[in-house]
Amino acid sequence: MEDTKRPSWSSYISFIIAAIGSAVGLGNIWRFPYVTGKYGGAVFLLTYLLIIIFICAIPLCLELALGKFFKKDTITCYEKISPKLKWFGQLNLITAILIPAFYFVVGGWIINYIWIFLTNNIPSDFSVYFSELNSSPYQPIILTFLFLFIVAIFPYRGVNKGIEKANNFMMPTLAVALILLAIVAISLPGAKEGLEFMFKPDFSKFSEELILTALGQALFTLSIGMGAMVTYGSYLNKDVNIKKSAYTLIFFDTLVSILAGVMIFPVVFTYGIEPTAGASLAFISLPQIFLNMPFSIPCAILFFLLLFFAAATSGISLMETSTACFIDNFKISRKKAVVILTLIIGILSIPSALSFGALENFKIFGKTIFDSLDFVTSTILLPFNTLIICIICGWFASEITKEAFGEGKFAGLLKFLLRYILPLVFAYALIVGL
Ligand code: TRP
Repeated sequence: MEDTKRPSWSSYISFIIAAIGSAVGLGNIWRFPYVTGKYGGAVFLLTYLLIIIFICAIPLCLELALGKFFKKDTITCYEKISPKLKWFGQLNLITAILIPAFYFVVGGWIINYIWIFLTNNIPSDFSVYFSELNSSPYQPIILTFLFLFIVAIFPYRGVNKGIEKANNFMMPTLAVALILLAIVAISLPGAKEGLEFMFKPDFSKFSEELILTALGQALFTLSIGMGAMVTYGSYLNKDVNIKKSAYTLIFFDTLVSILAGVMIFPVVFTYGIEPTAGASLAFISLPQIFLNMPFSIPCAILFFLLLFFAAATSGISLMETSTACFIDNFKISRKKAVVILTLIIGILSIPSALSFGALENFKIFGKTIFDSLDFVTSTILLPFNTLIICIICGWFASEITKEAFGEGKFAGLLKFLLRYILPLVFAYALIVGL
């Protein structure tokens, strides 16, 4: 049977590109620039860099090492450390299924916007258009399903024929689109003001909240806390250096985040809109501005393609994580696993797809279903899962830490941080989040 042998990356570069594809997503393009601006620009950036280099790099190394060491899905990896830890792998799987249930809704909107700009069916008021789009009882669902099907094709076709191929095409295209758009942006009259907003230090903004935001952003953007990197790590060959790979990944992920800010803020300041994040920026204010910009339609298409590739490569990694769990634990074929997961994620995403329209007033603790899923995963499950992996590997699985950090002084520092500092950091983040 084709699935009996574990797949492996056809080259180191393919792995790095796919891992960057997983990390680079909506988190980099619309969340990072916004939080950087909001929390005092350079001050936030500096804190973020320290956190990502000295804190979040550690669980990233651990996840990759865990996968590489056992060559299995998340659940089996934890089970192999100790059968008692199986539930923890299952929690990772649950997280990996819940994130797509809201992330893919955004993917659906992106497809819709690419379509309207490509076909030149451009509304005059995007604010009205966006709320009409979402108030339809079926359109957001169809769009979400469309995104889900497109993403599911690649895990369905397998690691080499699907996931690698998609990333090898989408990631370079994303890089080109981002650079082109950043060049257009810095040639706008508001560029100086925009870049100042993002990079000028405002020390008065330094706060505990800033630190926690930087931590949450770093975790989310690196796709840590649900076994995605365990899964990609499990397709690695023996000779790969985990620490080096993790820092390469961090470098490129951060570069994309910063370039995204360079692309967005000059536009925001040139056209005098509020520097915000999320749906309203990408789907209302920016498209509205595109209409007045030089090269408006090509810029708009490029921007939504960029968002699409960012979301799709992350989506592929999300689906591959749960797919690997299904294959290894239920002993079913890859194709069957992907079909079942597509159904599960499809059903789960319906209520969140309707959160901005038909189910707008259905609230759980004051949050829509979409926002609740975001909250439960990003604020609770990701830090919790990270806390647990740090405790397990730091105190009970020295073979994994050795695989993760190698040897030497820096490895010693990382190990010290892992055992004594990180559990406190993540426990604290979790408590404050709740
Ligand atoms: N890193 C992705 C982003 O920045 C989002 C994400 C979080 C993710 N966890 C993940 C993607 C796990 C793939 C796998 O948008």
